Amino acid sequence: MFRADATTVGVSDAHLMAEIVAARPVRQTERSVYKPAGGADIPHDSATRTIRALGQDVTAGIRKPPPPARGLAGAWPYAPTSYLRRWLFGSDPLPVSLLAKRGITRSDTLSRLVDRAVTAWPGSGTGSARPESDSADGTTALAGLIRGAENPLERKQAVAMYRRASATLCDGVAALAGNALWLLRAAPEPREELTAVLWETLRLLPPAWMLYRNGGDAYAGLHPEIRAEGNIALLPLLMHRHPEHWSDPLEFRPERWTGVADPEKTPGFMPFGFDGARCWAKHLVVPLAERLLTVALEHGLTIRSPRQDAPVPLRSLLAVRFEAAVGT
Ligand code: HEM
Repeated sequence: MFRADATTVGVSDAHLMAEIVAARPVRQTERSVYKPAGGADIPHDSATRTIRALGQDVTAGIRKPPPPARGLAGAWPYAPTSYLRRWLFGSDPLPVSLLAKRGITRSDTLSRLVDRAVTAWPGSGTGSARPESDSADGTTALAGLIRGAENPLERKQAVAMYRRASATLCDGVAALAGNALWLLRAAPEPREELTAVLWETLRLLPPAWMLYRNGGDAYAGLHPEIRAEGNIALLPLLMHRHPEHWSDPLEFRPERWTGVADPEKTPGFMPFGFDGARCWAKHLVVPLAERLLTVALEHGLTIRSPRQDAPVPLRSLLAVRFEAAVGT
């Protein structure tokens, strides 16, 4: 536990973190994917429909042949983010596919224009049956939720869900695969199972390195440093390196995960959050990252930046920045 600034404390102790998470539910406004959209909370059934649709799109994407691997060359994690968008959502027609495009999502004005264009997308808002899978015209199940929306609010929220779900997926998986490649650069051959590599990456360089809570009375009393009006930063990044839980905590050792049936039951390890607010997409993230890593390694992707140091900007997602080249 340490004071980060006048209003925020940082926590890396596993027991205290669990108590903080259990003290009150995550507020609607603290959620990232399911924070309110169109001026209203996201109803639970619409949230579960979104995650089901995303699951269908990831499963279908993993089975599809990947785009040409040269798309993985360049600046990571941007190159794989665009690559994943093309792979998974590239079959959606304009303007829907623009919802997921990086150049657009970075501009509020362009985003608003695209949102309007999608609202006028032929077939949207007709209240047609909700497609449960990749529809016959090849569009994604997430796009199907926009087309199947029954009223303007539902459509607005479906547009927001498409944008947030596709962005969270592609950014998160690109960050995870990039962090794994960075850690693998010095690993001796033969390589461990990629699944074990990814769990070890989630330990040492977890994309969700910090979970934030905006204060509240529920936390006062859990620790003398925590004030009712103060904010709390929970830090899996530090917890995952605590010598109380890990031998050689700073070493990249994928073999520690070999034969571990349920890595998330490991004490002091929470790459996808805690009970009560755990990630809804965790079962999609690791298989997709594994598929992406396989494509990268099969095509001889190599890191061209210096081998010891790389920038890691202080953002909500922890992602090592490096330049990569594709060999074969
Ligand atoms: C590498 C990718 C991802 C990582 C590392 C990750 C990690 C996490 C973590 C640590 C939490 C807990 C947050 C907290 O307690 O404050 C969380 C929650 C959540 N994640 Fe993910 N996530 C990833 C991708 C996704 C994707 C693609 C989606 C779906 C579109 C998603 C949906 C959610 C939802 C809905 C919650 C909140 C659960 C709730 O509010 O109760 N995540 N995620």
